[in-house]
Amino acid sequence: MPIEAREIVLAARPAGWPSESDFRIESRTLADPTDGEIAIEVTHLSVDPYMRSRMRDAASYAAPVQLGEKMTGAGVGRVFASRSPRFQPGDWVQGVTGWCSHLVTEARGFRKLDPSASPGSTALGVPGMTGLTAYFGLLDVGKPKSGETVLISGAAGAVGSVAGQIARIQGCRTVGIAGSDEKVAWLVEELGFGAAFNYKTTADYRARISELCPNGVDIYFDNVGGEITDAVFPLLNVHARMPVCGQISQYNNEEQEMGPRLLWYLITKRARVEGFLVTDYAERFREALAQLTGWYREGRLVHREEIEHGLENTPRAFLEMMRGRNTGKMIVKVAD
Ligand SMILES: NC(=O)c1ccc[n+]([C@@H]2O[C@H](COP(=O)([O-])OP(=O)(O)OC[C@H]3O[C@@H](n4cnc5c(N)ncnc54)[C@H](OP(=O)(O)O)[C@@H]3O)[C@@H](O)[C@H]2O)c1
Repeated sequence: MPIEAREIVLAARPAGWPSESDFRIESRTLADPTDGEIAIEVTHLSVDPYMRSRMRDAASYAAPVQLGEKMTGAGVGRVFASRSPRFQPGDWVQGVTGWCSHLVTEARGFRKLDPSASPGSTALGVPGMTGLTAYFGLLDVGKPKSGETVLISGAAGAVGSVAGQIARIQGCRTVGIAGSDEKVAWLVEELGFGAAFNYKTTADYRARISELCPNGVDIYFDNVGGEITDAVFPLLNVHARMPVCGQISQYNNEEQEMGPRLLWYLITKRARVEGFLVTDYAERFREALAQLTGWYREGRLVHREEIEHGLENTPRAFLEMMRGRNTGKMIVKVAD
């Protein structure tokens, strides 16, 4: 039976901050699945900072979304028709759905979820790409040792909040940087961060970090870049590690910002700065998901969501996430 799908497509390439008018909703009639394909009704969508770079017509680690093309992104949903031996109608799945209500797609690349283990939407958070990013960035790149001080920017967001919790599990002292007093309170009171501060009401980042990290910084897990990151370099300890996960403060800049020259600190502190992409670790996702799911079930990792309702509100959810509305993972609920 033909299904009418709603899709959100890229309508314009923004300069600077995007707006809702850069997106458009369209309807499309889906064909039935053919061999190896499944039809999915999407229930939850993830909105993520990387989507801003897909809106640019510029070379990056992934191809840009074309004008008039469905916005890319991960989603969770229910299979309602299948021509794949791996999936049955009724199965819950997670994969790259894009911003839409329904899709027919190759089954390859989708993983089956166990809805009795945790609600489907969590597969976009702790036991999903968010958790995997925090896991590999902190453990593989950061290489934490018990007793070390781990400083995290973007700490109350999806990745940052998980990275901080994993650092705590490793026996580290965690210090978070976030954009509101409520976020700071959540980090300290509910996630077990040793300390945190609100960068929006702090004039001197370096002085505040120095105060909250009296033994210096052994690992700086960077989600934001810009002036916050500049302030960390002088406070790095000998052999410090800096996993560079994201640079969200720069994503809407049309011109590259000129910052201070800081590489000298890497010599005096013999410190290491290393960027990473979670997708490079695909061969180890199974092992990491098992560990993340275990910690989540034991209550050692908290998953928190900020929910927007309705596919048509996905652009708004994306824009508000970029401005800091979310504590934890920003998710759009498309259907029950
Ligand atoms: N390397 C990888 O493979 C990989 C994978 C996933 C994500 N990432 C990166 O990881 C970072 C976090 O992603 P996420 O999905 O977890 O998003 P998120 O942290 O849940 O949401 C973005 C957060 O960024 C903060 N923010 C926005 N503008 C800022 C600014 N100018 N300065 C400081 N903070 C700002 C906001 O919180 P505040 O209220 O605190 O401002 C907002 O809530 C992003 O940079 C993303 O690109 C990298």
